[in-house]
Amino acid sequence: MHMVATPEAAHPQAVAHEDISGLYAHFIGGRLLRPDGSPDLVRTNPAASDEVLGGLRSADIELVNTAVRTAAEAWPKWRNTPAPARGQVLLEAARLMDRHRDELARLISIEEGKALKDSRAEVQRSINITEFMAGEGRRFGGYSSASESATKFAFTTRQPLGVVACITPWNFPLAIPAWKVAPALVSGNAVILKPASATPAAAVRLAEIYHEAGLPDGILNVLAARGGPAAEALLDADELRAVSLTGSSSTGRHVAARLAARGLAVQAELGGKNAAIVLADADLELAAAGIVDGAFGSTGQRCTATSRTIVVDSVADKLLDAVVSRARKLTVGPGIDEGTDVGPAVTAEQRESVLQYLEIGRQEGAEDVYTGSLGDLPRGHWLPPTVLDRVQPSMRVAREEIFGPVLSVIRVPDAAAAFEAANAVEYGLAASVYTRDVRAIFEFVDKVDVGIAHVNQPTLGGEVHLPFGGVKASGIGPHEQGREAIDFFTKVKTVYINYA
Ligand code: UN1
Repeated sequence: MHMVATPEAAHPQAVAHEDISGLYAHFIGGRLLRPDGSPDLVRTNPAASDEVLGGLRSADIELVNTAVRTAAEAWPKWRNTPAPARGQVLLEAARLMDRHRDELARLISIEEGKALKDSRAEVQRSINITEFMAGEGRRFGGYSSASESATKFAFTTRQPLGVVACITPWNFPLAIPAWKVAPALVSGNAVILKPASATPAAAVRLAEIYHEAGLPDGILNVLAARGGPAAEALLDADELRAVSLTGSSSTGRHVAARLAARGLAVQAELGGKNAAIVLADADLELAAAGIVDGAFGSTGQRCTATSRTIVVDSVADKLLDAVVSRARKLTVGPGIDEGTDVGPAVTAEQRESVLQYLEIGRQEGAEDVYTGSLGDLPRGHWLPPTVLDRVQPSMRVAREEIFGPVLSVIRVPDAAAAFEAANAVEYGLAASVYTRDVRAIFEFVDKVDVGIAHVNQPTLGGEVHLPFGGVKASGIGPHEQGREAIDFFTKVKTVYINYA
């Protein structure tokens, strides 16, 4: 990759970076593919929106069908590859990601816009999940259980499904593809990966890495397509056996309904409106650090972002002071600039949607206690970190997923009211509580209806060897990651052998 010159503009110069345009392609049957026709999927730099990063002609129905057929034809060879050998391919892919970690982190920051430190964490997470799932290749299978009969042997075995689709969002352009593809592959499936149209390059790079690691051609295919007829054709493809998707709750429900009509399984990881609860006895500096990290890290474009802080009245002013003084230290800027804490929004539309929420919040009566300053930046999709205080649980900014660097502060009288407010949203992905009171901790774990509960740490993320996913409107079907991830991508067969 060579360095591209930054465009001449009346604005400050964008930071120079590598040319990633070669990754704007589909990846089918082990090869990059660029269909004829003028590009209709053109990506501009979120941190310098005058600059085009790359473009391609998105997949049409015919290309979708070609990709699915390619996967279906390639599948038997991979299905019949012993699971430990499949695991070896994953392990090699993890090693290659490790070797290319700087390149991958820069690619994420250039394409998605997030700060390099967030991209580095994302690469590490991709390595971790691939390494963990490699080990599942050696643990693959079922169990035996004593039969009721003295001359029978009973056991279960796991088999792959066939061709599966992984549909991924733009906000973790490498890690989410990595954590869906790894369990699908080690289980012996062939995959069609459809990344978000804003970030296809990272997904294509992942497929190249798997190819280099020895994955047979046609087992991991990447199709860049917008929603619409081509995406629907993927859902309707005869050979398709399951879909794992991360995206909005409305997309998840659409895909789940469409697949349910065909009797196919869906795993959907959807939105969040995660609360960090701060009780009267909390370590306020620890809480403020976790809240600022949770709300503004990755530009708040994270389904586990802290978008609500629910704080007990007696410590609310003190907590808010600590949060604002930390937020003031954040630098907004291009993701690939080492000094940046908060990168741009991924697209102009995403920025517009966040700005609209800020306007709605103010109109609803929230008090804007902090808006970050943006400084002198190139023309990009910049958003100031913002803290809204005195938000009521009924306001839209307290209930709807904003997906930007916006923190809504809800003040409550006590812990019971805090847990109730935490549950007063349709989502149920993650929550955290800051307290040292062991009773309050267990009450939080018992009462707050989420898939991931954190104590004295941010609402963010999780460790790859444990299940990840939400309840209520935040998820459909079994959770991702952890050993459970294999369940979704396999079918169980129970076997009885009569050896009398
Ligand atoms: C994380 O927050 O670390 O789309 C991962 C998302 C989630 C992944 C979050 N599915 O933001």
